[in-house]
Amino acid sequence: MLLNKVVRNFASSSAKVPQFVPITSNTGIAGAVGNTPLIKLVKLSEELGRNIYGKAEFQNPGGSIKDRAALYLIKDAEDRGLLKTGGTVVESTAGNTGIGLAHICRSRGYNLVIYIPNTQAQSKINTLKLLGAEVFPVPPKPYDDPENFNHKARRHAESLENAVWANQFDNLANRNAHIETTGPEIWNQLNGKVDAFTCSTGTGGTFAGVTRYLKDVSKGKTKSIVADPPGSCVFSYVTSGGKSLERSGGSFTEGIGQGRITDNLKQDIDTVDGAVFIPDGETIAMLYRLLDEEGLYLGGTGALNVVAAAKIAKDLPENSNIVTILADSGHKYSDRIFSKKWLQEKGLLEHIPENLHKYIVYP
Ligand SMILES: Cc1ncc(COP(=O)(O)O)c(C=O)c1O
Repeated sequence: MLLNKVVRNFASSSAKVPQFVPITSNTGIAGAVGNTPLIKLVKLSEELGRNIYGKAEFQNPGGSIKDRAALYLIKDAEDRGLLKTGGTVVESTAGNTGIGLAHICRSRGYNLVIYIPNTQAQSKINTLKLLGAEVFPVPPKPYDDPENFNHKARRHAESLENAVWANQFDNLANRNAHIETTGPEIWNQLNGKVDAFTCSTGTGGTFAGVTRYLKDVSKGKTKSIVADPPGSCVFSYVTSGGKSLERSGGSFTEGIGQGRITDNLKQDIDTVDGAVFIPDGETIAMLYRLLDEEGLYLGGTGALNVVAAAKIAKDLPENSNIVTILADSGHKYSDRIFSKKWLQEKGLLEHIPENLHKYIVYP
């Protein structure tokens, strides 16, 4: 009955025809990557008198921003003739690129081998396995150690026929994904009024690619500021004018933080307008606040990016538009970031206001 009524009402009024129709993908899951909504963080924007927008990358088929890079890395290998039917993709990843690759590999009939630091959330490892990947969790090692996960992945690919090491850190196909998709989407979604962009970096593909596109299309007017967690060298690199790679401590965020300037980041790092350092206490507080006030259930990097956007907003004129990346959702990390014991162990509990402790649902 109710359904009939709705249908009749809809049919009788041309004004009810939706103006926007989400895309139809005729190329399977690959065509469903990207074209994500841009969400205004209404309460935060009201408080700041500046508009903070988050790109809802958790809405990608594999659940993160890294689906975009995964698709471009595979297309790049295919275009260069390195990957043929039945071939194998090998990659070193904190997890999300691996998950993106796993979806695309399944849909195109490729095998997938993943090297992942054994410090990452178990749920990412489980997801990779259930998507058919062969997974090698390995101890984290510095880049110049031959046992670093990148070198292990490269050697693995070299030992196989019809196999490619995707090399997301230094393969510029990653950055191209954001020059060709994320950047233009943001620009169009705000009709060209993008005053500032910020996000943190893992491979640097997102930050570098979006920065390159926005700087070009705005003729240098859009400001781009890189955000960095503890344990990463990017803040120190930018603020020292490229002289220092100093870093100390560590972060609970996963998928971001670097000990070097990757080839993807190197392309555009000299065009940035600055860097902000975001301590974990501010990130976890924002993660809980966004859940409570905006209804957004984010992973740590998305929350960190919003902290950075809010800091940058304070130095910009009223009504400026500041865009950042909501890289993934909280699902993969929930047994950590919503566990009282884990928060206590990491020294993060004290940063969460008492009235938000109701969200700490695990012991
Ligand atoms: C949750 C999350 N946020 C941010 C990033 C960083 O993105 P990029 O590698 O493009 O710098 C990653 C990378 O894996 C990630 O997994």
